[in-house]
Amino acid sequence: MKVSVIGAGNVGASCAEYIALNKIASEVVILDIKPNFAEGKATDLMQTATLNGFNTRISGSTGDYSKTAGSSVVVITSGIPRKPGMTREELIGINAGIVKDVTANILKYSPEAIIIVVSNPMDTMTYLALKDSKLPKNRIIGMGGILDSARFKFYLSNALNAPASDINGVVIGGHGDTTMIPLTRLATNTGVPVSQFIDAATLQKVAADTMVGGATLTGMLGTSAWYAPGAAVAALVNSIVNDQKKLFPCCVYLDGEYGQKDICLGVPVVIGKNGWEKIVDYKLNAEEQAAFNKSADAVRSMNSVLSEMKVI
Ligand code: NAI
Ligand code: 2OP
Repeated sequence: MKVSVIGAGNVGASCAEYIALNKIASEVVILDIKPNFAEGKATDLMQTATLNGFNTRISGSTGDYSKTAGSSVVVITSGIPRKPGMTREELIGINAGIVKDVTANILKYSPEAIIIVVSNPMDTMTYLALKDSKLPKNRIIGMGGILDSARFKFYLSNALNAPASDINGVVIGGHGDTTMIPLTRLATNTGVPVSQFIDAATLQKVAADTMVGGATLTGMLGTSAWYAPGAAVAALVNSIVNDQKKLFPCCVYLDGEYGQKDICLGVPVVIGKNGWEKIVDYKLNAEEQAAFNKSADAVRSMNSVLSEMKVI
């Protein structure tokens, strides 16, 4: 099974590494526009193969999409982060150009690929990739909710002083500081609601910390995080290539589900060999549904920049 990763930066390289370490695919191609950058990352990673005991062949390419031909899954991590003084419109404009170009190139060589969008603003870039490519909706998946849920479980496990592996928790909605919705009502410690272990104020702080989880790390690292994002992408790739049917919150096209239409937003979906195969209805209560609608309004306003700029 072949997987290609577009963008050999922090997230791209980390995701390639986790795919190899976890023996998820036999071949990974990393592609970047920076001359020799992807080749360098691939060579460095391959020199860990005998140390880490994997057989995945990782190779790099500078802009030659023919090397990605026949990929089952392609991950888009190419893009720039927002820089000081840059408007939201400027960021969307630049990343939209990159995502459009990359998507067209991917499909030229891997017409059957399932595409995972990571580049930010992810909900809008996922919508763009779907609208621009006109692919069946199940083949375009935005990665955000898996990462946000991993952060939610991390903060919960600290607050409960319980192992993270015993914690279950899901974040839906947009992948943004104000648009994501940690579903505190449904979070459990081995099946028991977390509200039986911590008080409401602590649970509220866990949710607030989760929502700024990415920004907190950007403040510490000087750039956005990559280990957890790379691991989240690798988990998603694993469920696709091994048809695991895992239930993950992902950004997918909604056509009336969760009360929303013509938008890509994070909801729980079954992930298998066909991409996202089914949206699962968590039966939100009134408060959660209101938060979801508010999140959709914010993402829709971001998406409107695409049409204002005549990108779609
Ligand atoms: P990075 O700057 O380390 O890597 C981006 C790479 O993309 C660079 O190597 C750059 O040369 C390459 N690139 C730019 N234009 C390209 C093109 N047209 N074709 C091929 N490669 C191109 O950035 P990092 O940290 O890897 O983040 C990548 C993106 O992922 C950013 O937009 C970031 O905001 C986003 N992100 C999203 C997350 C999510 O949960 N959805 C989590 C973490 C990051
Ligand atoms: C993150 O959540 C910034 O999307 C990036 O780490």
